[in-house]
Amino acid sequence: MILKPTRRAVLAAGAAAALVRPAAARAGPTEITARGGRAQLLPAGHPETPVWGYDGTVPGPEIRVAQGARVERRLRNALDVPTATHWHGIRLPNAMDGVPGLTQDAVAPGETFDYAFAVPDAGTYWYHAHRDSTEQVGRGLRGPLVIEEREGAPEVDAEHVLMLEDWRLGPDGMHQGAFGMPHDDSHGGRIGNVVTTNGAVEPALPPAAPGARLRLRIVNAANARVFTLGLEGLEGWTVALDGMPLEAPEPIRGPLVLGPAQRADLVVDVTAEAGAEAFLVHLERDGGYVQASIPVAGAVQARRPVPAPLPPNPAPRPAMTDARPLGLVLAGGAMGGMRGASVGSERMDARTLAGRGLFWSLGGHAGPPDAPLAELARGETVRMVLRNETAWPHAMHLHGHHFAELGPDGRPGALRDTTLVAPRATAEIAFAADNPGDWLVHCHMLGHAASGMTTWLRVA
Ligand code: C2O
Ligand code: CU
Repeated sequence: MILKPTRRAVLAAGAAAALVRPAAARAGPTEITARGGRAQLLPAGHPETPVWGYDGTVPGPEIRVAQGARVERRLRNALDVPTATHWHGIRLPNAMDGVPGLTQDAVAPGETFDYAFAVPDAGTYWYHAHRDSTEQVGRGLRGPLVIEEREGAPEVDAEHVLMLEDWRLGPDGMHQGAFGMPHDDSHGGRIGNVVTTNGAVEPALPPAAPGARLRLRIVNAANARVFTLGLEGLEGWTVALDGMPLEAPEPIRGPLVLGPAQRADLVVDVTAEAGAEAFLVHLERDGGYVQASIPVAGAVQARRPVPAPLPPNPAPRPAMTDARPLGLVLAGGAMGGMRGASVGSERMDARTLAGRGLFWSLGGHAGPPDAPLAELARGETVRMVLRNETAWPHAMHLHGHHFAELGPDGRPGALRDTTLVAPRATAEIAFAADNPGDWLVHCHMLGHAASGMTTWLRVA
């Protein structure tokens, strides 16, 4: 497919420079404050947008530590509403998972909560609010969390963390419409009209030489948008998904699909010529749009060989013998024909549910059931069938563990923490339940999670 990237908007040189994060960013601050701020999300010259951000910025400060090190952050809540922070994809102790009502009390305005945990796996992760997430993440409470390999990182000339975001903004820069509107929740979620990378429309990254090698850490931090990504003037390999290294780098031959919350680590070489630009684009029905651009300048560098695989993480791969079967039916939504579901111990018909803002169910429950979906023995392997009976894709996320996506032959593939299940399709995952505690399973289209698609598992 030949892409025709649109010209990027001309950003003032100063604004472009401010967007760029140095490859070796310092570790984030010890205290991190959830508070209001303003961000230039619309192109320069248009009004700013009021946001909620960690330290008031969008995205929040990058947290970067070495594999095996500890992340220690005091969350200070300077918002007017309670909040909590979830460390997406990190295999951490349950009490640090940041889920109000399940693993901690919400942090009241003016209060603090201390998060402290070791990070066992290298890779690209992120952190985000986990209370009223449609609104809190939607207003900007999210940031990148990068765990560096202690050794065996690919040799690159530069690295860029690219957080992809989606906003619904008016020409005045204000968020349009309420968060959690029934029409959004029952359809594809809150899909926006302004797509940014690291808080800016079509940002320019620092220049790279022809032949230069880059590592791109891409995070889909959008509320609900599935990004279909393409490369122009760049060629390379996917080396990790959701933080976890692939057994072998996979050549990028077509569009790369990232559901909400999913990540991809790419190693790419600049194939565009000096004087041209290279692009990360996102593909829509009508063509490709610039997600980030790289001016190409300087002396041609010799191409390097295929990168070695990233060193494997200690995250367990599921042993497929003696796996316990579990089924999970995804139901509801517009054109889903859901008849009813349980709320707590009460059975309700679809109309009653809709009256309460519930449009979806997981395993017959709209919203988290009183008892866990399953109680698992520590160390047990679970094989879970996700049957999507709805007309919509869902990005299903399991907390506290990574799972293998099973291929059509039943063989475990890549380890992930979020799997995108296509409409009316069935997907299978398997994981070793080795992390004790109560763990959410939910759709990461945040409006779906809020309107029924949330359940939980207990690992004893
Ligand atoms: Cu990234 Cu429960 O979420
Ligand atoms: Cu969903």
